[in-house]
Amino acid sequence: MRALSASIVALLFVASSALAQQARLDLGTPATPERIRGWDIDVRPDGAGLPPGKGTVEQGEKIYAEQCAACHGDKGQNPAKGFDRLVGGKGTLATPKPVQTVGSYWPYATTIFDYVNRAMPFTAPNSLTADEVYSVVAYLLYVNDIVPRQAIMDAQELQKVKMPNADGFIADGRPDTEGLKCKADCK
Ligand code: HEC
Repeated sequence: MRALSASIVALLFVASSALAQQARLDLGTPATPERIRGWDIDVRPDGAGLPPGKGTVEQGEKIYAEQCAACHGDKGQNPAKGFDRLVGGKGTLATPKPVQTVGSYWPYATTIFDYVNRAMPFTAPNSLTADEVYSVVAYLLYVNDIVPRQAIMDAQELQKVKMPNADGFIADGRPDTEGLKCKADCK
C-alpha cells in the first residue's frame, strides 16, 4: 500500500512537472482526430486505406506532363539523368540487365497510389488530390500496358489490377530466431 501510494505520488509529480513544462515551453498540441487523419494516409497492398475518388488515363496524362515528366521523362521513358524510369522493362527482370520500373517490378497497383500520394511530385509531396493521384496512377498503368486507355481508376478498380510481377516475390518463411549468445546467468 505504502509502495503504491508512493508510486502514485511519483506519477502525479511526473505528470504535474510535465504539465508545468508544457506550459512554460509551450510544447505539444492536442492530437485531434482531424490532425491524426492528416498523417493516416497509408494505403496497403490489399487496398485498405484507399480514399474515395477516381481518375481517368486522360486526366492523368495531363497531370503527368505538367508535374512529373520534367524528372521522369516524356511518357515515363527517358527520364532526366539520375531519375527513375517509370515505364517498360517487362520481361527483363530475369535477364543480366533487369530494368525495374513500377510496371515491370512493383507487385501491387495499390501501393503505387500510396507512394505517389505520399512522396510525389518530389518537390511538393502529398500535394495532389485523391482524384489526381487516381488519374496519374491510371496513366502510369496505361503506359505500362496494364490497363486500357479508357480505364477509370478508383478504390475498387485499383484493387483488381493484377501487376505483371505480382507473383515474382516469395514470402520469406524463415522463422525469427534469437541470438545464441548467453543473455543471463552466464558462466
Ligand atoms: C523533381 C523531380 C521529380 C518530379 C517532378 C517527380 N518525381 Fe517521382 N521521383 C523522383 C525521385 C528523386 C524519385 C526517387 C525517390 C527515392 O528513391 O527516394 C522518384 C520516384 C518515383 C517513383 C518510384 C519509382 C520506382 O520504381 O521506385 C514513382 C512511381 C514516381 N516517382 C512517380 C512520380 C509521379 C507520378 C510524379 C508526378 C505527380 C513524379 N514522380 C514527379 C523525382 C521526381
